[in-house]
Amino acid sequence: MSAERIVMEVTRYQPETDSEPTLQAYEVPLTREWAVLDGLNYIKDRLDGTLTFRWSCRMGICGSCGMTINGDPKLACATFLVDYLPGPVRVEPMRNFPVIRDLVVDISDFMAKLPRVKPWIIRDDELAPEDGEYLQTPAELEDYKRFSMCINCMLCYSACPVYGLEPDFLGPAAIALAQRYNLDSRDEGEPDRRDVLAAADGAWACTYVGECSTACPKGVDPAGAIQQYKLTAAKHSVRDLVMPFRSRRAVR
Ligand code: SF4
Ligand code: FES
Repeated sequence: MSAERIVMEVTRYQPETDSEPTLQAYEVPLTREWAVLDGLNYIKDRLDGTLTFRWSCRMGICGSCGMTINGDPKLACATFLVDYLPGPVRVEPMRNFPVIRDLVVDISDFMAKLPRVKPWIIRDDELAPEDGEYLQTPAELEDYKRFSMCINCMLCYSACPVYGLEPDFLGPAAIALAQRYNLDSRDEGEPDRRDVLAAADGAWACTYVGECSTACPKGVDPAGAIQQYKLTAAKHSVRDLVMPFRSRRAVR
């Protein structure tokens, strides 16, 4: 193998004809700026047009190119071939998801879970447009900004051993996105999210392995969000015991 080329071992699975996934090796040029995604596009354009994978932005924004690269959950567009010299570099679908074809996985479980945490601003009363804006200080923005950086790439679910064992677990990104709104000074919706977040398969299912935060390419720290919400849920449980007749909203 010359230094100008590298072998990529890529999962192939065509459900019409294959009983199980296999690995296929392709040799691609090693251009120093090439990400793993560039190598996959070279294969698709020059070597085998049937290879199927998701991507869109090529800049770590759309969250669609999550894959398992040499065993680690990574964005293919932000992971560079040169870092895997002398090769081979193995490219597999994200773990913990059903495989639809080649490197494409089914994320409908997350798509069903996400709306359950109501990831949008909820208010008891809305200001009329003529009554002005909801102002927020830089410190208030900092409270939730980190959790707002999520690109829904699912690498945290792929990295999470709890999700791998307990598919009902709400999961890292859904809880981090709920916290993004719970911590927003404009939001009053935490009580509306509580039944889902504080359930046994919500935040409490997390055993704080922390692999989700290690895998996250955007520094969201979903593990931190989950532990934060455990504190919130515990606080409300204690208050509900001490003051059972006060309204849930009143004890926020
Ligand atoms: S929390 Fe991070 S790893 Fe999980 S979906 Fe969002 S951006 Fe991806
Ligand atoms: S192609 Fe959009 S995040 Fe990789």
